[in-house]
Amino acid sequence: MPGLIGPSDYSREPPRHPSLKINAKEPFNAEPTRQDLILSYITPVDYFYKRNHGPIPIVEDIDRYSLAIDGLVEKPIQLSMAQIRLLPKYNVTATLQCAGNRRTAMSQQLKVRGVGWDISALGNAVWGGAKLSDVLELVGVSKLTSVTSSGGKHVEFISIDKCKEEKGGPYKASVPLSQATNPEADVLLAYEMNGEILNRDHGYPLRVVVPGVIGARSVKWLDRITIIEQECQGFFMQKDYKMFPPSVNWDNIDWSTRRPQMDFPVQSAICSLHDVDIVKPGKVRIAGYAVSGGGRGIERVDVSIDGGKTWFEASRYQKTGVPYVSDDDSSCDKWAWVLFEAIVNLQSENADIVVKAVDSSANVQPENVMSIWNLRGILNTSWHHVYVRSTAAKL
Ligand code: MTE
Repeated sequence: MPGLIGPSDYSREPPRHPSLKINAKEPFNAEPTRQDLILSYITPVDYFYKRNHGPIPIVEDIDRYSLAIDGLVEKPIQLSMAQIRLLPKYNVTATLQCAGNRRTAMSQQLKVRGVGWDISALGNAVWGGAKLSDVLELVGVSKLTSVTSSGGKHVEFISIDKCKEEKGGPYKASVPLSQATNPEADVLLAYEMNGEILNRDHGYPLRVVVPGVIGARSVKWLDRITIIEQECQGFFMQKDYKMFPPSVNWDNIDWSTRRPQMDFPVQSAICSLHDVDIVKPGKVRIAGYAVSGGGRGIERVDVSIDGGKTWFEASRYQKTGVPYVSDDDSSCDKWAWVLFEAIVNLQSENADIVVKAVDSSANVQPENVMSIWNLRGILNTSWHHVYVRSTAAKL
């Protein structure tokens, strides 16, 4: 691709905010602190987690950048950035969550492979760009199509970065054509994040955003979109980001037995506290985030201060002053997280504080991490515990 290069080393990485917790340097993987994560409903770009599988590509000349759209379609085309910007622009508020969020906690129970993440491998941004459903019309694929006349059923996104898992080739992933051509699925080709031009870390000049789906499918630094018959055969679709049962290990794994993970399940975590914070007895604020995939809203957030014996409900919010009603499109952002808050009265010496969320389909987070343990450590959505000690214990 002229204008866009995928460097093969890490000598030209962009600057990053010093408060990020770096989980791996090369490729660069980092997350904000728990406290920073929930400072605002919209995550500032600086605090947005960064998840990469190779060096960050560089655009040398944006006027020479173009996106190819081809494959099983009637009229393949090349679009310049200027042409993409001429299409109707949408702003979609959506939470992107890495499937590896909370992997460190799963690995502490029984070791898993992969970059370790605390609870902040997610962020909520306003993504601005063209809808993929509009772009696909330009190659003759109409809205709400699940198969093209030449047999295309999946939309593959190919990047420019160089990943060792792809043997030096680019990162890639796909979504079903039915999702890509559904305007209500809000799949975007985004060139803006929080009202600013997308930065290099997050996919400049153009990335895919697939709301409600694990972050791995939101391909950054987009080079080519191709309509194919079967889902993408790339490493990250076929040999990674699949959910296996606890019985599968590295000796008996058969990757072909599982589908690539798409929607993420219901998730929540406490961000206002760490293990093992010392708190003053009395009122303590418990705050964090809750989110579900597939556009399902958050019906409830339950908090416990006795390890899950008794529960009470936390308040949920997206925008100050607007009551949050799950799945009400007129008052809430359907693809976005909710923040929650509860003020509790802590008297005991030690407290096991827990959170679990329930989504609008009544899906609940599992209690026990080992019941969902999997060798790659993805989708740790088990109840989130924080153990705190009260200063009363010292008296
Ligand atoms: N796209 C490319 N080209 N290369 C990547 O390494 N990582 C994916 C996805 N898209 C990745 C990519 C993963 S695993 C996640 S979770 C998200 O991007 C992270 O997006 P972010 O870095 O903007 O937060």
